[in-house]
Amino acid sequence: TADVVPQAPEDPLFGLMTAFRKDESANKVDLGIGAYRDDNAKPWILPVVQKADDLIRKDPNLNHEYLPITGLAEFREASQKLVLGGDSPAVKEKRAHTLQAVSGTGALHLGALFLAKFYKPNTKRTVYLSDPTWPNHFQIFNNVGLPYKSYPYFSKKTKALDFDGYIDTLQNADEGSIVVLHACAHNPTGVDPTQGQWKKIADVIRAKKHFPFFDTAYQGFASGDLTRDAWAIRYFVEQGFELCIAQSYAKNFGLYGERAGCFHFVAAPSSDAESTATRVASQLAILQRSEISNPPAYGARIASLILNTPELFAQWEEDLRTMSGRIIEMRKALRRKLEELGTPGTWNHITDQIGMFSFTGLTEQQVLKLREDSHIYMTKNGRISMAGLNTKNVGYVAKAFDKAVRD
Ligand code: LMR
Repeated sequence: TADVVPQAPEDPLFGLMTAFRKDESANKVDLGIGAYRDDNAKPWILPVVQKADDLIRKDPNLNHEYLPITGLAEFREASQKLVLGGDSPAVKEKRAHTLQAVSGTGALHLGALFLAKFYKPNTKRTVYLSDPTWPNHFQIFNNVGLPYKSYPYFSKKTKALDFDGYIDTLQNADEGSIVVLHACAHNPTGVDPTQGQWKKIADVIRAKKHFPFFDTAYQGFASGDLTRDAWAIRYFVEQGFELCIAQSYAKNFGLYGERAGCFHFVAAPSSDAESTATRVASQLAILQRSEISNPPAYGARIASLILNTPELFAQWEEDLRTMSGRIIEMRKALRRKLEELGTPGTWNHITDQIGMFSFTGLTEQQVLKLREDSHIYMTKNGRISMAGLNTKNVGYVAKAFDKAVRD
């Protein structure tokens, strides 16, 4: 292998994180990786997570034994209900199967691996990813041998959804393609389809027999409302699609490093849907065993305790509103400051977009200049993590953006 392994480039996002940490400027601002920060630019342990953690540590029965291959049962059940809804027909009819996964990335990988092995094997299959999308999507599907193409998503002109391009591409895609859908708070654009647009997207996916694969990393974090942020997924399930869901708890529980999440498979309603789900479950268990043996326990224990304890669940909803509320305030503040400065361009998209990120429209050249001159770090495509803004730095950031746009 010595002479056949080429040097791979560093991961752009984690590379950016390292560069930020090395920067010694007192003014530096991290708008790079999507991780929540409080108003002092510090990581925030959700109070409800702290409480659950304390309770778990005090439990005399706590040990470090293996979890089952499929993960912690009460966590899987609660996760299924959280994403699909307590009265979901798929849950009632036992046609949903859930495995605990290594957060969103692990769930996407498991799903990709499963589809590579069992979804129309020996035929040409294409995965459709939004343009732009979270860059990890490309390598996750590529690594299991599934080729990908893009569907238009973001219009640079309107800084909003390119709905016509989106629909047109899905319409012209080979029948039975796999379509990756961001359930809410699209990464990197912060632009989501409206409910009416989702209905039309579902119509095309049905007409073309495409396979929907949802990626949900921001339930409750986007709007502060767990039900609202799950609307698209629940709509597709109600419509009777067979589908997959990769669910991450990194952002909405702030459990970034604990790698808590789930993979869900939902069989379409039919007389043997339950048996389909059971067969799929048996294959997923084999894949899981060979990949990770069994999933990590600690983060799942924390999330599970919160999801299964009504008082903790209510406190979690409050913590979610704290995070989404602060981000919405920062959107308003950044827009207001840019408009006050008379910064060339329009800035309404900052408050129109939702979730962790805003797609500013800044060019790569402006992004690099902001890093060099003002020690403000963001990804080259002009995406900013809204959580990196706070009442102390938003004025500084707005002034730096203003200068970069005018230069
Ligand atoms: C991001 O896009 O910043 C986050 O989802 C972090 C990650 O893992 O890429």
